[in-house]
Amino acid sequence: MSFGTLYARAYDLLYREKDYAAEAAYVDAEIRRVAPEARSILDLGSGTGRHAVCFAELGHTVHGVERSADMLALSTAGAPDRVSFAHGDLRDYRADRQYDAVVSLFHVFSYLPTDDDVWRGLETARAHLPAGGVLAFDYWYGPAVLRDKPSRRARRVNGDTLRIERVSAPTLLPEENTVRIDYRLTLEDRETATVEEANETHSMRYFFTPEIDGFLQAAGFRPAAHLEWMTTNRPDADSWYAFTVAQAV
Ligand SMILES: C[S@@+](CC[C@H](N)C(=O)[O-])C[C@H]1O[C@@H](n2cnc3c(N)ncnc32)[C@H](O)[C@@H]1O
Repeated sequence: MSFGTLYARAYDLLYREKDYAAEAAYVDAEIRRVAPEARSILDLGSGTGRHAVCFAELGHTVHGVERSADMLALSTAGAPDRVSFAHGDLRDYRADRQYDAVVSLFHVFSYLPTDDDVWRGLETARAHLPAGGVLAFDYWYGPAVLRDKPSRRARRVNGDTLRIERVSAPTLLPEENTVRIDYRLTLEDRETATVEEANETHSMRYFFTPEIDGFLQAAGFRPAAHLEWMTTNRPDADSWYAFTVAQAV
């Protein structure tokens, strides 16, 4: 299982530099190009809820779905009225309503390593959208992953009381279009003078535009845009992260 207790505890500090407000504004603008009246969003893989809160600040009603109970617990604390969260797996989650848009952000679709996982994720998205509704999601982009292959990295972050070290050891599995990443996480809590360690393995899929188009069309979507993440350019072999917008037909 990924995103367990220790990883969740480290998550917001690990990504404290990530500009969730700018990302939500970018995604909102791309959604509005296709559906200018969109007001409600289903966020699949909502994590600690930071995009959801930013979407609410932009005027949306947001419902997040998250598989990790530890991540979910962080998202529910202090969320504004227009935001709700549920514990669930995006591959089979069903709410009793539809939304104007479904988003899945910060590589959540890359956490769907098999074709069956992807089909089920797209089925969930389609089930929650009327015709004309928008799906927007980002993912690891195959041409760039294969050109600039993932390598072993260490990341260290110092918070007020926590000190985090995360070592990631990736293994490229080109037969499966995935990268297996073995993480070793060390959390030092200076307040309690404790050090905890956890190991997690994340299986990340990278995608190519033609296969994304094939998945989308077969699942009842019309691709509307393929972009390099946070730009309005087409992704290329330097774009590790791509972003697709599609409309339900
Ligand atoms: C990199 S985090 C992104 C979280 C959040 N969207 C963000 O932008 O911070 C990936 C998230 O996807 C969640 N996730 C992965 N597979 C999932 C699934 N099948 N159903 C629901 N959530 C899933 C993980 O638990 C994790 O919280």
